[in-house]
Amino acid sequence: MVSGVYEEGVDVMSKIVITGGAGFIGSHIAESCVEDGHELEIIDNLDDYYSLELKKKNIDCALKSGMARFVHGDVTDLDFLRTVIDKDVDYVFHEAAQAGVRISVDNPFKPNNVNVLGTMNVLQVSLEADVERVINASSSSVYGKVEYLPFDEMHPTQPVSPYGVSKLAAEHYCRVFYEVYGLPTVSLRYFTVYGPRMRPDLAISIFTGKMLNDEPITIFGDGSQTRDFTYIDDIVAMNMRLLDTNRADGAVMNIGSGDRISVNDLAKNLKEIIGSSSEISYAETQRGDAKHTLADVGLAKELIGYEPSVGIEEGLERFVAWYKEILE
Ligand SMILES: NC(=O)c1ccc[n+]([C@@H]2O[C@H](COP(=O)([O-])OP(=O)(O)OC[C@H]3O[C@@H](n4cnc5c(N)ncnc54)[C@H](O)[C@@H]3O)[C@@H](O)[C@H]2O)c1
Repeated sequence: MVSGVYEEGVDVMSKIVITGGAGFIGSHIAESCVEDGHELEIIDNLDDYYSLELKKKNIDCALKSGMARFVHGDVTDLDFLRTVIDKDVDYVFHEAAQAGVRISVDNPFKPNNVNVLGTMNVLQVSLEADVERVINASSSSVYGKVEYLPFDEMHPTQPVSPYGVSKLAAEHYCRVFYEVYGLPTVSLRYFTVYGPRMRPDLAISIFTGKMLNDEPITIFGDGSQTRDFTYIDDIVAMNMRLLDTNRADGAVMNIGSGDRISVNDLAKNLKEIIGSSSEISYAETQRGDAKHTLADVGLAKELIGYEPSVGIEEGLERFVAWYKEILE
């Protein structure tokens, strides 16, 4: 529980559904929910976008508590969702998605189906069930073309990938379900999230795995592109805070670190932390990749008291320590 103005509407114990709860971010939110004593239903279709072994381990963390139940199912299936999101459910964290910019360039239909239709289904069923709030995972990918930095929420949204388009459509549906139908929703625009159990398709994870074996790494583009990397703990904390306040209902807000680093510097930092002799080579820029991201987190600060707490150096140290531990 957080203090001060955020205490309005606090539930001591709630029934929560997390879609995509076997994934990276969803599984961390799941653990936080059970630690706080909430009853939890984890929905996931165990999509094979990456290793099912990793996803099964992710769910185990929450299931061990005895407070969580895993339900295998698909957010694109409205009838299935109705069997889980019922009148007993207080809050829904909607994390299920076909994540990943590059896969969306290869197959734009899948992210559209999962991220747009899936989100509509979650909203519709949550409305029918009188859920108190749906907290939707959106993305910095909605910004796309940079007109100025940092991105505040008024920055134009011109996604440069099908994934970004799908996340933008999904957050508009969240806002419209609030404004038109009265379902409280909040969308959090996450800026590249990293930390233990992170998705294996993301640069920090790929670089770390290779650098620990002194294998060469490849940077797409010239490495001058910059990213705002957000440590998982900050993402989880802001999701949990939204259980305790209605101050952000209907809002869309950035959750980033408020700082950025070039991919070249990221690789350099990781090499130093790991003590690796990996060679770095460069390849053509990938289609759909944004040039820069950087969050203005002023709105989240104002509405829900957000203060990013883990900087990139500390975050990378923690991630590498975790990665080495799981190899042992
Ligand atoms: N990781 C990041 O850097 C980042 C940045 C911005 C936004 N996001 C968003 O955060 C959310 C979580 O991302 P993540 O990195 O944990 O990804 P992830 O792939 O680890 O987790 C997503 C989970 O959703 C599940 N899923 C996929 N399709 C589904 C379907 N049709 N029905 C039910 N479950 C389904 C997957 O099996 C997976 O376990 C996503 O909405 C993503 O778009 C992530």
